[in-house]
Amino acid sequence: MSNTKAYRSTKSWLYSILFLTFLTLNFNTVSAQDVEVGQKLFKQNCATCHRIDDKKLTGPGLAGVEERVPSKEWLYEWIKDSPGKIASGDAYANKIFNEYKKSAMSQFQFLSNEDIDNILHYINNPPPHHHLKMEMKLLVRRRKITQYYGLLFYSLFLQ
Ligand code: HEC
Repeated sequence: MSNTKAYRSTKSWLYSILFLTFLTLNFNTVSAQDVEVGQKLFKQNCATCHRIDDKKLTGPGLAGVEERVPSKEWLYEWIKDSPGKIASGDAYANKIFNEYKKSAMSQFQFLSNEDIDNILHYINNPPPHHHLKMEMKLLVRRRKITQYYGLLFYSLFLQ
């Protein structure tokens, strides 16, 4: 009798683990995709002048840029047409333009707001974190569930 009970509770325990795995996996897949799209766009268009940490190249390091600039809308406008933003007399645009000795940033009118969101997503999720997620996906594919939970714990609580 009690054997059946124990069996049932083990079974429901297993189901809840499976369910949690499914949830976290789904979550990881969606954001990993955006990060990858953003990374590609960044490498093609921005990496010659910008890093995603706080070190300067031709332009400022872009870590934490969303908190520095006036608004999200400002970022869209700046990235699509920075000379236009400077010419409009915008205070922040002119401040950074002068700080960087008036070196001009290219215009990216072909980028959509969604493209820019993906680039920002990549900037906000620098590679170590991203690699961790990929590694977790691999572990699940290889059914190394214990290690997967170890890494999940690490990424949730120790970062
Ligand atoms: C040719 C070099 C160059 C390229 C390519 C370039 N930038 Fe810039 N960027 C600059 C410079 C220089 C500045 C500083 C302002 C100025 O001088 O116009 C800047 C400033 C910025 C700022 C404001 C940063 C801050 O700290 O407020 C953002 C955001 C930005 N760039 C995003 C991008 C993105 C996204 C891309 C790619 C789609 C890109 N840049 C491509 C040169 C570049």
